Amino acid sequence: MKQFFIKSYGCQMNSYDSLRIADALQEAGHKSASSMNDANILVFNTCSIREKADEKLFSDLGRARLKKLQAQVTGDDFIIVVTGCVAQSKSEDIAKRAPYVDIIVGPQEIHKIAEDIKNFEKKNKIIRTESNAQNKFLHLTHQFFNREVSEFLTIQEGCDNFCTYCVVPYTRGREFSRDASDIIAEAKKMLSMNVKEIILLGQNVNSYRGIGPDGETWNLSRLIFALADLDGLKRIRYTTSNPKDVDESIALAHREVAILMPFVHLPVQSGSNAVLQRMNRKYSAEEYLKCIDLLRDSRSDMAFSSDFIVGFPGETDDDFQKTLDLVEKIKFAQAYSFKYSPRPGTAAEKMPNQVPEERKSERLQILQKILNDQQSSFNEGYVGGHLNVLVTKGGRHKNQQVGRSEYSQSVAICDSYLEIGDVARVKITESMSHSLVGVVV
Ligand code: 5AD
Ligand code: SF4
Repeated sequence: MKQFFIKSYGCQMNSYDSLRIADALQEAGHKSASSMNDANILVFNTCSIREKADEKLFSDLGRARLKKLQAQVTGDDFIIVVTGCVAQSKSEDIAKRAPYVDIIVGPQEIHKIAEDIKNFEKKNKIIRTESNAQNKFLHLTHQFFNREVSEFLTIQEGCDNFCTYCVVPYTRGREFSRDASDIIAEAKKMLSMNVKEIILLGQNVNSYRGIGPDGETWNLSRLIFALADLDGLKRIRYTTSNPKDVDESIALAHREVAILMPFVHLPVQSGSNAVLQRMNRKYSAEEYLKCIDLLRDSRSDMAFSSDFIVGFPGETDDDFQKTLDLVEKIKFAQAYSFKYSPRPGTAAEKMPNQVPEERKSERLQILQKILNDQQSSFNEGYVGGHLNVLVTKGGRHKNQQVGRSEYSQSVAICDSYLEIGDVARVKITESMSHSLVGVVV
């Protein structure tokens, strides 16, 4: 019996995978450690979306190596596992740069980690980077341990879009949708563990096409309608949507399913059609605006968040201005923005006219200021008004609790004696930079 600690980098897909790895390790009799210091199995679930994410692994591995050396002095076992997207794309590099890593497995092989750890007593390094998401979901343990009020549920994985900047098609492989009956069974199990909000996850969640229990192909909307009937489920969200796949069916779900939250993460990346074309995004800025209109028509209070990349190869001042113009038109409730980071093996890495680092930084600063201001205005608009808050945990102060509004804002509730998992009507009294404060009505 060992103690494990999982460090998860990157996206929500990794958070979900880390939880499923933790389930398998607990099923195998290992205990979850509260910090890296107490653990003798370290699992790094890595991300390679941008260069910085990727480099973080190697600095963390340096620390892990010291812990392993200490353990060797006392003759104790110490196992280091690297999984996730860097393990997939750089397995040989990891084995060379960090020979003390024992197990290197790609994101579609996580269902075997517990067994790998058991087999590792034989002391042979294990490297596996097959890419079959279907197998992974078939073989992940069905035993669940700790679940919070709000949890992710991966319904679709991988990507066939090949945006020219992106590593995901190379790390997570081809698009795969789970059967709807598996997803519904998993949702029921989550509800039995007091989960109240399920966030459906997929790299392209709105291109979900899974086999339904009726033998037909279900889309995301059909799946949402089915999940909405489950007893005890208070909220449904889904992420990440691709604008090119937004259609009337999802608008219908927003119109008719009361527990589907009116907040959609819809990455636009750029407001310039020339840049979007070079990114191979398969939509124009005008089409993106139409998606926003379609969703706003389904619910007038719909709020949006987005992702932006600045300094994509060939991006001119004029292209960047078009991004700012689009941001100005939409008014986002939240957003994430990044400097373009060339990724090995992607088409954009070899494109001419790479933008200098200083120009990327300048543009990022300008864009982030506007997006931050939009987020603040969105939040300030609720001061004096009311929001429905799902209580997710206790707050930092006495009798304070923290939760999320329907628009995904973080709300601290004062003088509250609600239960975790309750949804309460909260009067908003104050707006901080990235969160709100309120009292139960
Ligand atoms: N450089 C910068 N940002 C990137 N993203 C994806 N690939 C890159 C890259 N090479 C951003 C996109 C995506 C988010 C998850 O990360 O905005 O939507
Ligand atoms: Fe990072 Fe993409 Fe892998 Fe998620 S799927 S961990 S964002 S590289």
